[in-house]
Amino acid sequence: MNIQLLNKNISDIKADILVEFLTPDTLKEHTEVKMLKQAGFKAEQDSTCFLHEKGLLFCGADSKKSDNIRSATVSMVKALKSSNYVSARFSVIKNNSLTAMVEGIVLGGYEFNEYKSKPKEITLKDIFLASNDLDYNELKITFDEALIIANATCYTRDIVNRAPQELNPETFAILAKKLADSNSLECNILAEDDLKKERMGAMLAVGRASIHESQLIHLAYKPANPKKIISLVGKGLTYDSGGLSLKPAANMVTMKMDKAGACAVLGMIKAASELKLDVEIHAFIGAVENMVGGNAYKPDDVLVSRSGTTIEVRNTDAEGRLVLADVLTYAQENVKADGIFDFATLTGACMVALGQYTTGIMGHSHKLKHDFSKAATTSGELTGSLPFNKHLKKLLKSEIADISNVSSKPYGGAITAGLFLDKFIKDENKDKWMHFDIAGSAYTETPWDCNVYGGTGAGVRFMSEYLKNI
Ligand code: BES
Ligand code: ZN
Ligand code: ZN
Repeated sequence: MNIQLLNKNISDIKADILVEFLTPDTLKEHTEVKMLKQAGFKAEQDSTCFLHEKGLLFCGADSKKSDNIRSATVSMVKALKSSNYVSARFSVIKNNSLTAMVEGIVLGGYEFNEYKSKPKEITLKDIFLASNDLDYNELKITFDEALIIANATCYTRDIVNRAPQELNPETFAILAKKLADSNSLECNILAEDDLKKERMGAMLAVGRASIHESQLIHLAYKPANPKKIISLVGKGLTYDSGGLSLKPAANMVTMKMDKAGACAVLGMIKAASELKLDVEIHAFIGAVENMVGGNAYKPDDVLVSRSGTTIEVRNTDAEGRLVLADVLTYAQENVKADGIFDFATLTGACMVALGQYTTGIMGHSHKLKHDFSKAATTSGELTGSLPFNKHLKKLLKSEIADISNVSSKPYGGAITAGLFLDKFIKDENKDKWMHFDIAGSAYTETPWDCNVYGGTGAGVRFMSEYLKNI
């Protein structure tokens, strides 16, 4: 599907169908109001109505706010995709809705068909947006940026959706190298021998029972005069069976998505490099597979992490934090960054706390939390802050090692996981670090907003918005 912004009057654009957005108020004044009423169209949010004989498609929205327009555009693109029209045209409402429209079309129209032997045929080829009498040059910049970010989000979704027999830590490293080559990024990959030399004892333990070698992937985007240096860290569990603390069968399905943090980080560095941002970006990924086997790491093992902190393993399913502990330490030792942001499908507890649509934000800096929450609202992603406290921190105490990998109490699990990571953040970096738990927001089995079945690409839009504003 091709989407274009044209510096033309809508009436000068040739297409099979004309799309119009209507609110209940603008419906009342529309020339076709009688016919639309007969068809039962009330301009309710996300409702659509074709007047085929007139070549018109109407989409309802509660208001012309971005969130409503994005959602209405998703309904529009779905209606068009299930029709036999080849091309559609519509007018840009205003600058701040253009991004929402692009997101609605690209993200709402996304499908992952890699594994279908006969993907459904879609006739829709072209969507033309008319810039009307608004300032075209300004709109074009907004349009191009929105398209880069939406495409990077789809790139993230594509990797999340790949099956675990195909995407393992080794093939993940090849994929990252490919991105580095195509986007002129620096790339350094550490396989198991290197990880042993680097004393990454926690990360290596998690991947020990896998037939695939764990990989630490470091990509860097280095513009000439960067304003800031940012490190992004991603949990890349290409499969999380739970290890010896095996997941129940029903909970194991979808655990290919446990690499979504790593995939998001790749999408973010892709977007930043294509937007040519003045920010140096480092992406650090721990790509590991958590499996069972005779050599699997065990509950009761004590691991020595790269930082020297010893960890008592009480549950091998709390593996993401072990991988991140070492990767965060490595990232801090290798790059002196102004911001260190990690993304991880870390806890089921985050979904219990915030629901499955919302990314959990944790960290010490109120300013960073505020900035990210603002960036998320602007970009149409949902985030919620989960507060640390010293009482929850005590629940990670171990009798035999420096820290336990799970809390001794069942409540506040997203926060105790965040506090575990905090143990591996150096004092001078405490206020530079944010942890994002995307366990709920990164993957969905029912469509919502501009998300369809599978990976959502959570984090890519709000991080791009944050980085643009640096
Ligand atoms: N990858 C899971 C978290 C997860 C659960 C992500 C559901 C997405 C959907 C993580 O490794 C895990 O298993 N966490 C445990 C931690 C527990 C053992 C302390 C959990 O959330 O149950
Ligand atoms: Zn797990
Ligand atoms: Zn996991």
